[in-house]
Amino acid sequence: MKSVGFIGWRGIVGSVLLQRMIKKNDFNKIKVTFFTTSQFNKYFPLNIKNINKTLHNAYDIEQLLLLDIIITCQGSEYTNKIYYKLRQKGWQGYWLDAASNLRTDDNTIIVLDPVNLDLIKEKIDIGIKTFVGGNCTVSLMLMALGGLFKKNLIDWIFVSTYQAISGAGAKYIKELLLQTNFLHENITDIIHSNKFNILEVEKIITLLLNNKEFPQQYSTIPLVNNVIPWIDKQINNGQTKEEWKGQFETNKILNNKNIIPIDGICVRVPTLRAHSQSFMVKLNKDLSIKNIEDIIQSHNKWVKIIPNDYIYTTKYLTPCAVNRTLNIPVGRIKKLNIEKNCFSMFTVGDQLLWGAAEPLRRMLKLLI
Ligand code: HSE
Repeated sequence: MKSVGFIGWRGIVGSVLLQRMIKKNDFNKIKVTFFTTSQFNKYFPLNIKNINKTLHNAYDIEQLLLLDIIITCQGSEYTNKIYYKLRQKGWQGYWLDAASNLRTDDNTIIVLDPVNLDLIKEKIDIGIKTFVGGNCTVSLMLMALGGLFKKNLIDWIFVSTYQAISGAGAKYIKELLLQTNFLHENITDIIHSNKFNILEVEKIITLLLNNKEFPQQYSTIPLVNNVIPWIDKQINNGQTKEEWKGQFETNKILNNKNIIPIDGICVRVPTLRAHSQSFMVKLNKDLSIKNIEDIIQSHNKWVKIIPNDYIYTTKYLTPCAVNRTLNIPVGRIKKLNIEKNCFSMFTVGDQLLWGAAEPLRRMLKLLI
């Protein structure tokens, strides 16, 4: 049995990964040690059959060196501190990482096995030992559009994302909920009064968003009642880092020699869990809608074509319909009157499952 160290199992991605591993009985097939960066001398809080509940120090290099596989959702800072030290000491184990900082390294593979299983296997065979989960929107896009990529039908893509607050981290989810609660507490009486006037309520809300009591410990602008067309830091070509990842990571996952151009605008919206994306896709040949749908649908078992009508779209193509599932609905597929061979498409995916934890869980399974 492989000895596996699990780091960062308490955070938002780590706990989703843990839940999935419990559900899929993955712990039966490994000898796992749980590590902690802060809870020394405590015990792992859940009951999982046959596991050692003692928590080990995640900075204890000697202990880490004994492992066959390390899976970490602890974040980039931890990776930077520990990964290179282990490799310098000659550690030959597999490092599986949810953080982004190793994705750009030439000797790492970004894993999304429904899309790049052959590449993953090929790289395992030649001795690659570092496998990293992709950016959430990239993985979700590839799960949705995988069939068209596989058949080399895509010329370029423009995407507008609608990224849930969970992508920013747990503290922002709490801040959004505190802000919602603050508004609620301050407008309840007005909403229920006989004198309800929507323009008056909207004015009060705008004043509340600027009130000094408005909960804003982490965000510099309101998360509630807002959308924010900026995610991650600025890079020097006008893109944000999140937008830059779209082209870089997609082409790396696909191992493309000819780079497919991908660009867009990444936007934070006040939903909680699932990310949505609206695409304009330019194909290199004229395909019928039926052809496009068949190719998308046949790529993997999670993608589902949603008929382009009001009832199906509103029932199945929203974050509320997708949260906590592995489903990748794809809809609003239509030819555009802008340019020949262009079509539009909208997709939604759970950013903590296919967007983060699931590709790593499946990679671990592949290794064991
Ligand atoms: N970078 C993503 C976001 C997190 O900000 O939504 C998902 O990997």
